[in-house]
Amino acid sequence: MDQIVNVNEFQELAKRSLPKMYYDFYSGGAEDQHTLKENVEAFTRIMFRPRVLVDVSKIDMSTRILGYPISAPIMIAPTAMHMLAHPQGEIATAKAAAACNTIMIVSYMASCTIEEVASSCNAIRFLQIYVYKRRDVTAQMVKRAEKAGFKAIVMTVDVPKLGRREADIKNKMVSPQLRNFEGLISTKVLPSKGSGVEALAASTFDASLTWKDIEWLRSITKLPILVKGVLTREDALKAVEAGVDGIVVSNHGARQLDYSPATITVLEEVIVHVVGGRIPVLLDGGVRRGTDVFKALALGAQAVLIGRPVVYGLAAKGEDGVRKVIEMLKNELELTMALSGCPTIGDITRNHVRTENERL
Ligand code: FNR
Repeated sequence: MDQIVNVNEFQELAKRSLPKMYYDFYSGGAEDQHTLKENVEAFTRIMFRPRVLVDVSKIDMSTRILGYPISAPIMIAPTAMHMLAHPQGEIATAKAAAACNTIMIVSYMASCTIEEVASSCNAIRFLQIYVYKRRDVTAQMVKRAEKAGFKAIVMTVDVPKLGRREADIKNKMVSPQLRNFEGLISTKVLPSKGSGVEALAASTFDASLTWKDIEWLRSITKLPILVKGVLTREDALKAVEAGVDGIVVSNHGARQLDYSPATITVLEEVIVHVVGGRIPVLLDGGVRRGTDVFKALALGAQAVLIGRPVVYGLAAKGEDGVRKVIEMLKNELELTMALSGCPTIGDITRNHVRTENERL
């Protein structure tokens, strides 16, 4: 582990330790995978305007999300089926989140039950949900999450249908058996001619979902509601009007609509023009460096979520691997803050970065 110097190096390790079908499932994007590349590359087009002769002898990266204190604005994104990566699955990931003092968003498609994750450690947890055609099943998951001490519901809104992930189609990616839903619905779709994940989504996800359904979710839970998958100012406005408690600017790690914009390129549009600080805005997609975290914060995000690097860390080294991924990003962010003249998160401003079209 000491040999690993940045989070990108975990990808190769994960590739070596995972069966090809699972590695392809974790790493892949939709269709031409244009957005997959763009999510990362768009960060490289943003440069810094570092300030000097600021006292940076102490750097404080701590922040609060929905009132919950975390050690740095780096959270764990919801990603499906961690047991494909490691036998301890989401429990290992949650323990790493607790050790790093950050928030884990547990996927609706988790391989461990949410109660198992909850009882494994004291990590602050949010539950991500997809809304099923069987609303009673989704409602029951929300109730279970409340009971198990989850702190918020993250409703993913960019999957009315599953994006076309061609590697999964070729590999006939197996349909997951989701223990969270045992006794409620069959999550086993057999046999599948293409991607089993796609077949599962087609049979369970509600493609008729609209903004009105936020009211339904609000009617069944008192937990804060975040909407994940917003990419335009029109939808950011609708989210604010619907009374949600936060937005995640996300293109689902480029796994849904190829040629969706890189998230960092729309962050400012979404925040500055519409949200105006009324609710927190989080961002995910392509965050691989502490410098990326800083750039997202400078453009207005309160925190970022990390998807693939966490899964790669888990596949390569279990709980320790996830911890190392988060720690490396934190260390890089700390250095970036020092070299930019920002001793606290509150000191990071729009003036600390320069996008492509701006003058020096
Ligand atoms: C995801 N993502 C995701 N999102 C969600 O809301 N529910 C889910 O179950 C999953 N599952 C999932 C599996 C895998 C293998 C990946 C890579 C992604 C999307 C995820 O939350 C996040 O938006 C992206 O992963 C962020 O991009 P990066 O960090 O992977 O580039």
